[in-house]
Amino acid sequence: MPKKKQRIDILTLFPDYFTGPFTVSMVKRAVEKKALDLRLHDLRRWTEDRRRTADDVPYGGGAGMVMKPEPLVKALAAIKKGRKGVKTLLLSPQGPRFDHRKALELSKEASLLLVCGHYEGIDERAMASIDGELSLGDFVLTGGEPAAVVVVDTLARLLPGVVGDRRSVEKDSFFNGLLDHPHYTRPRLFKGKGVPEALLSGDHSRIEAWRKKESLRNTWLKRPDLLEGLPLTPEQRKFLDEVKKEETPG
Ligand SMILES: C[S@@+](CC[C@H](N)C(=O)[O-])C[C@H]1O[C@@H](n2cnc3c(N)ncnc32)[C@H](O)[C@@H]1O
Repeated sequence: MPKKKQRIDILTLFPDYFTGPFTVSMVKRAVEKKALDLRLHDLRRWTEDRRRTADDVPYGGGAGMVMKPEPLVKALAAIKKGRKGVKTLLLSPQGPRFDHRKALELSKEASLLLVCGHYEGIDERAMASIDGELSLGDFVLTGGEPAAVVVVDTLARLLPGVVGDRRSVEKDSFFNGLLDHPHYTRPRLFKGKGVPEALLSGDHSRIEAWRKKESLRNTWLKRPDLLEGLPLTPEQRKFLDEVKKEETPG
């Protein structure tokens, strides 16, 4: 079960980066409802020179700078001081991929500490103070900040009570292993295109059946890999067979 409340600390060189994303929509609501205790920490606070240097040239030479270990390790110790069970993760392209399963796993943690790298990354020796890495995907961002925004946004909507109707979260893509069904709203006719008749029928069991089938259609057409090895109910199997016939030309 996801935790009812979660604390997320973010260690960053650029706390201002988060001003926009964390002051609107779901994350703002989660914080206001006190479901999410979100704290930003400026890494430069733990630097010691007048210029507040957090990076240095790499041993061995080459391009780019490396984040120094001392401020990082001091910052992590200070943020975790007196608290047990804080899971510390470095946002990194080298980590395990952040996906729905990982999000559910992390939603069970009472306290997360996300470390945003920059430049060429952090001095390897600071990894001794970090529990693991977390990647957004096989591409390289300039810094861990956009990745931290994605992680926080995803976890915020999993917190009970943050999204008004829990059922809407549980019907989202990936929750039951499938993609969500298509959605429609007014107007009833848009650029000559109508709304599927089942959705206008007012018949709840028909609407539910349409949604289940279209969820399978979406998955089969867009992400067939998700269906591999997924246990389906007899009803889902029947819908999937129908979809396959309907979508196969001839
Ligand atoms: C320019 S990247 C460093 C990349 C590093 N030299 C490498 O090739 O593995 C700077 C920082 O951005 C963050 N970052 C980059 N790509 C990321 C990704 N796919 N997922 C999560 N964080 C990422 C990490 O915190 C990383 O330390």
